[in-house]
Amino acid sequence: MKVLVVGGGGREHAIVMKLAESPRVTELHCAPGNGGIAKYAVCHAVKATDLEGMLALAKELAVDWVFVAPDDPLVMGMSDLLRENGFKVFGPSKAAAIIEGSKVFSKHLMKKYGIPTAKYEVFEDAASAIAYIQEQNTYPTVVKADGLALGKGVIIAQTEDEAVAAVRSIMEDKIFGESGSKLVVEEFLTGPEVSVLAFTDGETVVPMISSMDHKRALDHDRGKNTGGMGTVAPNPYYTKEIADQCMREIFLPTMHAMNGENRTFRGCLYFGLMLTPNGPKVIEYNCRFGDPETQVVLPMLKTDLLDIMEATEACKLEDLPISWKEGACACVILASGGYPEKYETGKEITGLDEKGQCAGARVYHAGTKLTEDGRFLTAGGRVLGVTASADHLRDALDAAYAAVEQIKFDQVHYRRDIGKRALEAKK
Ligand code: AMP
Ligand code: GLY
Repeated sequence: MKVLVVGGGGREHAIVMKLAESPRVTELHCAPGNGGIAKYAVCHAVKATDLEGMLALAKELAVDWVFVAPDDPLVMGMSDLLRENGFKVFGPSKAAAIIEGSKVFSKHLMKKYGIPTAKYEVFEDAASAIAYIQEQNTYPTVVKADGLALGKGVIIAQTEDEAVAAVRSIMEDKIFGESGSKLVVEEFLTGPEVSVLAFTDGETVVPMISSMDHKRALDHDRGKNTGGMGTVAPNPYYTKEIADQCMREIFLPTMHAMNGENRTFRGCLYFGLMLTPNGPKVIEYNCRFGDPETQVVLPMLKTDLLDIMEATEACKLEDLPISWKEGACACVILASGGYPEKYETGKEITGLDEKGQCAGARVYHAGTKLTEDGRFLTAGGRVLGVTASADHLRDALDAAYAAVEQIKFDQVHYRRDIGKRALEAKK
């Protein structure tokens, strides 16, 4: 089988490396890919959001499968276009991807089908949003742009001034463009956060190993929200009992709700959950694998990913046993200094071998470029995801951080406390 993976970050590198383990995968392609992915798949200079370009590439390469990994092409309908042209695709339809593409849609869905989530109101103009925030007068409060915003569309406002500024910047200054023509104001929830990715074909939901993201830029969960600065799996707060409750109250009801709306979801559905004192609640849905959750979840997968893709597309997940390795996995993101705001690129990375790897760890490249003479340069905000597995989380973290010490580039920034909260939960 020839497989084309759409995307070019650490998540896509993890997907490519997992597919490379499949004895049935004979050729791997990635578009656009990156410097590290280029060592494991043939990379093609087609943007992930270029629907027609991707279709042309899939035709030219005569691939059997396309794995659409990022949110924007899914929300734009890339899966539909490829399927209409006879390709097998892993990734939900446009109709189903709206579960991530519109927070207004997903909040209404949860309300209609009784799926636990934060209380909320939707607004289409700044004045009524501000009036509501002032009337509620409860802080922190949460302001969310409706559409995709590179993981930055959520503002936790600690005061009235901050909330008002958030509404104005989204609706009047349009900092997220049209994604901000509607917004959601919602109740602030507390509790440990858990990411659960699940394979679903619309009839069966198979949750993967749980994980914990570290969204803030700085240690002790300080600083700005980012796409994610590190992950561990499994998430120790997510007990068997909570998993069963989530299956009953959240996972199955969400699958049925999407069927009920004629938007059957086939692919990887990401549940961002908060384990509140009143039970697990949905913070957000994503229509795809998480980044950097994938970097700690896929290394734990024993089953052939291609088999799962086939079962998902053929609605036969029920018949496929999916199994996981014992132990734990940890990923530390090395970012460019300044990320998630302004940062520089083009810095030479040292400490990687010819394959872009480092002894004792698996290095997933998120934003790197390969020069003609074989050096790796930084090319994004998140640069590398340094990942290690072990029987125990402590050892996985030690191995990942030991590799991190070997890798250097100018103005590198990483968190030193990835996994700390997970280790504390285990005590
Ligand atoms: P999202 O982009 O929806 O994942 O939100 C980014 C982060 O904001 C989440 O991972 C949470 O840490 C936080 N967040 C979002 N919604 C809420 C909420 N209702 N209460 C508390 N924190 C939230
Ligand atoms: N790590 C969070 C996300 O992928 O949205």
